[in-house]
This record gives sequence, C-alpha cells and structure tokens, in this order.
Amino acid sequence: MHHFAYRSGVLHCEDVSLEAIARELGTPAYVYSDATLRRHYSVLDEALGEQKHLIAYAVKANSNLGVLATLASLGAGADVVSGGEMLKALEAGVPAGKIVFSGVGKSEDEIALGLRSGIHQFNVESIPELHRLSRVATALGVRAPMAFRVNPHVEAGGHAHISTGSAEHKFGIAWHEAERAYAEAADLPGIDPVGVAVHIGSQIMRIAPFREAWTKVVALVRTLRSRGLAIARVDFGGGLGVPYSHDDEPDSPTLYARQARETLGDLDVELIVEPGRLIAGNAGVLISRVEYVKERDGRTFVILDAGMNDLMRPALYDAFHDILPVRTPPLGASRRAVDIVGPVCESTDRFAKDRPMPPIQEGDLLAFMTAGAYGAALSSQYNARPLVAEALVRGDACVVVRRRPTFEEMIALERAPDWIKGG
Ligand code: LLP
Repeated sequence: MHHFAYRSGVLHCEDVSLEAIARELGTPAYVYSDATLRRHYSVLDEALGEQKHLIAYAVKANSNLGVLATLASLGAGADVVSGGEMLKALEAGVPAGKIVFSGVGKSEDEIALGLRSGIHQFNVESIPELHRLSRVATALGVRAPMAFRVNPHVEAGGHAHISTGSAEHKFGIAWHEAERAYAEAADLPGIDPVGVAVHIGSQIMRIAPFREAWTKVVALVRTLRSRGLAIARVDFGGGLGVPYSHDDEPDSPTLYARQARETLGDLDVELIVEPGRLIAGNAGVLISRVEYVKERDGRTFVILDAGMNDLMRPALYDAFHDILPVRTPPLGASRRAVDIVGPVCESTDRFAKDRPMPPIQEGDLLAFMTAGAYGAALSSQYNARPLVAEALVRGDACVVVRRRPTFEEMIALERAPDWIKGG
C-alpha cells in the first residue's frame, strides 16, 4: 500500500504531481511520501502491539534526514552501521537510547562515538570486535550493552548478494561458538551481554525462514539465562520483502509480527526489529526524463537522464523496478518492448531489457517505483554526475530534503597537486 497514484492522467505523490516536482527540482530526483512512511511504520508497530518492542529502522535503506526525522517523530529507533549513520540518526532526533549499532567492521572511533552517545546496544560480530569494545569501554569508564549477532545457518534472501545467514557469509559469530562467546563476554571488563541478535538476509518473501532463525535465538536465550546471564533483549533483524512487481506477494508485516510474538511465547524480553526496505521501499520513486529514443539494429533504447549511479539496484542485483510513464498513455496505445538505459558509460547501466512500454518520446517523464530503499542511499557520483536530489511530500506540501549539489560544490572537494603548477 502506497500513496502514488494517477490523478487526471498524471502520476502524483499524495497531492503533488510528479510533473510539478520535476519542473521544480529538475531530474533525476527521488520523491518520498510521508503518508507511506508513516503507514508502514504504524502497521508494524500496531501488529507488535503489547509485546515490548523497538523498531530500529535500518538507516542504510534510506538515510535522508527528512526520512529519519519522520520516523523518529513516530518513535522509531535506528539500526546503524557506521559513525556517519549514527550521527545522522542523532541529528534527525532519534534518541541515543534507541540506537543499535550493527556491522562487521566497527572502528575504534565509531565504537567510542557510540559509547559516548550512550546508545542502546552494540551488535557484535566477532571475538576481536568484542575485545575492542571492552578495551574502548574500559578506557572511557563506561559499560557497553551488547548482543552477539549469531549466524543461524538459515538460507534466505532474494538475491545471492543480499543473503547473509549461512556459514559462508562474513556476518555474525558461528552458531556452535555462541555459548562460549557469551561466557567470554561475561568475563570481560566493560561488557554487559544483554541480548542475542540475528539478521538472515534481505528481500525475504516468506516468513518461514525467519521462524527457523528466531526459534534458535529463543532457545539460545533460555540456555544463556540458565547459565546466569541476564539476557533481556532479542534482535530479530530486518529482511521482510516488499513487492517490486505485480507478481510479488510477500507475506505481510502483520503475519511477520504475529509470528515474532508466537515465537517469543512467554519469554520476557524486549523485541528489537531492524526493518529497512519494509518501511522505505515503496515510499519512494525515482523520476527521470527521457533524453533520447534511439533505434538501432532492431532494438529501441530509451535513454534516460537517470543512470546506474542514481539507482544501482538493477545493475547490482538484476533487480526489477516497475517503470511507469508519469503521464498516462492515450487509451488503447499499444505497448512494445524497449530497453530502458541510462547515460553512464557501462553496459550494466540498463534498468530494463525488452520491457513492454507504451509509446515513449524524448522529454517524457518516467517513474521508477519502489525506489525508496537502497536507491538514493546507494547512489554515487560516477561519471562526475552530481548526487541526485530528494524531495519529501506530505499532502500538498513538497520539501526538498536534499538538494542536488552544484558542479562547483562537487568539484570543490578535490584539487590538483601543487607540483603541476610548479611545472
Ligand atoms: N539489519 C542488518 C544487520 C542488515 O544488514 C540489514 C540490511 C537490515 C537490517 C535491513 O534489511 P531490510 O529490512 O532492508 O531487508 N542493497 C540491497 C539490500 C542490502 C541489505 C543489507 N542489509 C538491495 O538493494 O536489495
């Protein structure tokens, strides 16, 4: 369910026409819907109901301050994977006490930042990291609330590049080493083992693999408690999929939440979840203008002003995004298969191959649907293309939440070495 729909033949985000936004901001541009973000957050929040819980939104999915502040105002926490994400979450108004710090490569500085800020929990992914956390916490004279991210050896996840829960992946500590690791943690200075965490992958369409992983976590919590550890939290990770096409029918957040509550049963714990895509995915679109329609060797290439640097997912994961004309085509217009590509000098700069589309002309606007998660967040300046602009819509209001840098700003961070001028 989202708030993008045609009105009088023009695609709108809530009450604002995407044509108007394209005129104001130029293209390419991301457009987010406030009502959609709110809805996704509340559906999950309400389904988790009486269960003590923290929805720690996975900032990596979309770290725009406007998006973060919207979620923070609803009571969301944040799952962060870098010092930068932590600072953005704090800046957006997420209380430190609702921040969970994940990731396999936390630096000393990042750990110190988390400890000084007083974040809710460190999700530790290795024994060397545990020791570093202990050292930094002791030096600062504080205690670090931590959970191990355990790797439950459950196969899940849409694409091989976004599956994380099996032995070959770098994430988490091995399942069979978990008990020993917790014993070690309990003996270290500055460490409070307070939770157990898992995250098995992303764009997972069925809730069954989650049950498998979560059941293991619950059993581990009981074992650890029987050994005298005060485990008070479980972190069930993120990963529930969203529909990218009409054929996708992921299990609902309500089912997911019910299963989480059932799996916990009478276990008295705080439940943390880390959804990213579920919250932001279909709350955003990328709008782009057609630069050229090129016919060659029997193929039609629709060349856009958006490239793989603006939306990486098709190039990186073969991801499918529905691509809609912003203005509805004339009734009865026939579709024909075209390739939809960007201007970047790479063959992988292709968003769709042989995609049946209504007639398209130079200057038309197209919208990539379900681009709110891992869209702008993954964008780059490849080919010296300034980062894409982002707008947030609420009702009939539209705010630029990230302006496109000027060419001067983009270039200003770099310099030629002095020896060139010196000859
Ligand atoms: N928690 C942890 C520890 C994670 O690594 C991730 C995502 C999440 C939560 C949020 O997962 P979500 O609810 O969004 O599925 N760029 C890829 C997805 C990478 C996911 C990385 N980790 C894509 O565009 O499909």
